[in-house]
Amino acid sequence: MSLTEKYPNEVKRILSKYPPEQKRSAVMPLLYLAQREEGYLTKGAMKDVARIVDISETDVAAIVGFYTLYHEEKGGKYRMQVCTDLPCALRGADEFMNALCENLGIKVGETTADGFITLEAVTCLAACDKAPMFQTQGSDGIKYHENMTVDRTMELISVLKKSIKDGE
Ligand code: FES
Repeated sequence: MSLTEKYPNEVKRILSKYPPEQKRSAVMPLLYLAQREEGYLTKGAMKDVARIVDISETDVAAIVGFYTLYHEEKGGKYRMQVCTDLPCALRGADEFMNALCENLGIKVGETTADGFITLEAVTCLAACDKAPMFQTQGSDGIKYHENMTVDRTMELISVLKKSIKDGE
């Protein structure tokens, strides 16, 4: 089913924010909409978005590849994106990431055995003075977590797991 068939009102609402001759500007929110359910973008979804905003599939793929918000592969229920850029590295981001990997039993880029967390390293998230920091991406949106420790991160994961369990 195409994006337009699946979410006709939302696609219409997004497109209505831009003049028709500039509908290509709707590419980002449309990609976000397409990714919302599964947490990643299939080739079909990208093709769909390209058709709606009338740009090439290559352009859409370039946008998806550039932004850490978009994913081409299925990940865990939550993506935990730790900034390891230089300013954060100077505040211990690498040590934080290594300790997280150890606690979760995975390497950067991998997903935990229970399919809950995918751990990723990303570049600047504009909270350089609050490292170690990361953003979580899940069905509840994107959230920032600043001045984190490994213990607080493991606690956060437990809380997220519990809230998902309670919501089932
Ligand atoms: S360098 Fe990490 S948030 Fe800016």
